[in-house]
Amino acid sequence: MPVSVGVPKETAPLERRVALVPEAVQRLVKAGVEVVVEHGAGEGAFISDADFEQAGARVAGRTEVYAARVIARVQPPPADEMEMLAPEHVLVGFLRPLDDPAGAARLAATGVTALAMELVPRTTRAQKMDALSAMATISGYKAVLLAAESLPKFFPLLTTAAGTIRPAKVLVLGAGVAGLQAIATARRLGAVVSAYDVRAAAAEQVESVGGKFVKLELDTTGAEGTGGYAAALDEERQRRQVELLVPHVGDSDVVISTALVPGMHAPLLVSEDAVRAMKPGSVIIDIAAPNGGNCALTRRGGVVEVGGVRIFGPLNLPAEMPVHASQMYARTVGAMIAEFVKDGEFRLDFDDEIFKGACVAHGGQITNDRVRGMLPQPAA
Ligand code: NAI
Repeated sequence: MPVSVGVPKETAPLERRVALVPEAVQRLVKAGVEVVVEHGAGEGAFISDADFEQAGARVAGRTEVYAARVIARVQPPPADEMEMLAPEHVLVGFLRPLDDPAGAARLAATGVTALAMELVPRTTRAQKMDALSAMATISGYKAVLLAAESLPKFFPLLTTAAGTIRPAKVLVLGAGVAGLQAIATARRLGAVVSAYDVRAAAAEQVESVGGKFVKLELDTTGAEGTGGYAAALDEERQRRQVELLVPHVGDSDVVISTALVPGMHAPLLVSEDAVRAMKPGSVIIDIAAPNGGNCALTRRGGVVEVGGVRIFGPLNLPAEMPVHASQMYARTVGAMIAEFVKDGEFRLDFDDEIFKGACVAHGGQITNDRVRGMLPQPAA
C-alpha cells in the first residue's frame, strides 16, 4: 500500500491558499505517494480539480481525503475536521501551537501525530521545509504594496516639469525575513528606507538590501535568542526602546512593522505618541497584527485612523497572494512529507531532529515541551 496524502479544502475566512499545488503533487506521486485532493481545494489559488488530476492526484470528497495517512493543511483543522482525525493520521500544517496551546491540546486529544510547520528547526537540512520564511517573504512584499497603494504620495523621487517629488521615507521595524523583503521591495519602488532590529547582526543584512540601519542608544545584551530569533527585552529597556523610536517613526511616511518573538505577544514598538508624531496621510502596516501587533493602536484585521494616520492590521497577507503563497508553501510541506516517506511508509522518526522539533502531538499527548509548559498544569 503506498503512503497517501489528503489535501482538504481550507475553510478559514479569507484563506485562499491550498497545502499542495500540482507541481508538489507531481513530485510526491513520483516518490510513490498517492495524493487525494478535496473537490475545489485549489479554487482560491486558481487551481482547478482538472489541474490536480493532471498532476496525478485523485479528486474526491472530504471523507475520502481523510482516509489518507497524512493530512496536509495550511491552517489548523476546524472543529468538524478535528472530529475526522484519528490516531493513524499524521497532520502537517501551520498549527499555531505557540499562539494557541489549547488548540494544540485539542489536537492531541484526537490521538493524531501533528507536525507544526512553525516548529521546523532552522537548520541547513531543514531549509527546504522553512514555511515560515516562505510566508514571511510574501508578507514583507505585500505589506509594502499595501502601503504604496494607501499612501497619498509617490514612493520614488521624480523630477518632472510639474516639479520635483521627494521620495517617501519608509521605516521597517524588525529586519528578519519579512522585514528584509519589505526593505528590498520599498527600495525597488524608489523609497528611502531605514530599518531597525534589536539583533545587532541585522545591521549588515539591512545594508545589503539597500536600507539604512537605525541604531538606538539601547543596551541590547541578551536580545538575541536561539536559532536566529530575538528574545524579549525587560520592561525598562522595552519602554526605552519605544521612546527612542518616536522621532524615527515621526519622521517616516510609512512604517512597516514586523517584529516578533516566538511564542510571545509581539513587542510594542510604536506608541500612540509615535503615531501622533507622524504627518497626516502617513501609513503603518503592522504585519505583527496576528500576534497582537507592534503598534499600540493596531486593531487585528482592521484599519484604525488616528490624526490622519492609518494603521493597518492585516491578519493573513500571504492569502492575498494565493498563487505564489500556495506554490511556496506546497514546496515546504511536500519536502517535509517526502523526507519521512521510506519504503512505502510514513515513518514517525522521533530520533530525527526535524521530526522531533516539528512534532507537537503524538499518542494523545503534547510532545513539545514548550507547548506543554504553556498549558495549565494539572494539580500535583
Ligand atoms: P521573526 O519573524 O521571529 O521576527 C522578525 C524580526 O523581529 C526578527 O529579526 C527579530 O530580531 C525582530 N525583533 C524582535 N523583537 C524586536 C524588538 N523588540 N525590536 C526590534 N526588532 C525585534 O524572525 P524571522 O524573520 O523568522 O527571522 C529571524 C532570524 O532568523 C533572522 O536573522 C533570519 O535571517 C534567520 N533565519 C535563519 C534561517 C536559517 O538559518 N535557515 C531561516 C530563516 C531565518
